[in-house]
Amino acid sequence: MKIFLDTANLDQIKEAVSWGIIDGVTTNPTLCSREKENFNDLIKKICDVVPGPVSVECVESHAEEIVKEARKHCEIAENVIVKIPICVEGLKATRRLSDEGIHVNTTLVFSPTQALLAAKAGSRYVSPFVGRLDDISSDGMALVEQLVPIFNNYGFETEIIVASIRHPMHVVEAALMGADIATLPFNSLEKLVKHPLTDRGIERFLDDWEKVKKAMSQKEK
Ligand code: E4P
Repeated sequence: MKIFLDTANLDQIKEAVSWGIIDGVTTNPTLCSREKENFNDLIKKICDVVPGPVSVECVESHAEEIVKEARKHCEIAENVIVKIPICVEGLKATRRLSDEGIHVNTTLVFSPTQALLAAKAGSRYVSPFVGRLDDISSDGMALVEQLVPIFNNYGFETEIIVASIRHPMHVVEAALMGADIATLPFNSLEKLVKHPLTDRGIERFLDDWEKVKKAMSQKEK
């Protein structure tokens, strides 16, 4: 499973990329609004450090304008892919852009029919927002469970990005279901590494190693 980082924060991106496990980045207007840098400069810097696709969101509402905006985003760097919210105008734009070879990530997906239409329009990725479904007492991962066989049934190449991840179990379930990608904020990524038994184990090994060193130095005397 590929792991994307869901942030526009350059320091977090540099740190996570240095771990050697990051395959891409997703941004959105909210994440970009938290950074103080000029939008285009920020995206360029992110693209320079990420070894994979960087999703940049379009905010226009008519197909013609979305297409123009998407082409502009793609001029920033070769690894930019455009994020377009699912809607009729978004589908029209997605068809045109994917015919031009521009990769689209269809975002704000909350139902299997939205994902199916995005795939049919040629979208390279669809992003079901599992956490936001959980937030309204729905089952976010149940949507992913439906999308995996739907895409497999028809051989769609569209990849599923499990988005709006809130905790490590979302990642575990996504991996068990065979979702292609999980995109997660930096604090959730850190939680994937941590385990209290590992911390305690390292601590004990270090303590015991001190005893080994002490015994060796006593022997030398
Ligand atoms: C994904 O592409 C989105 O940027 C993101 O996962 C949204 O997450 P949120 O629901 O925590 O804002």
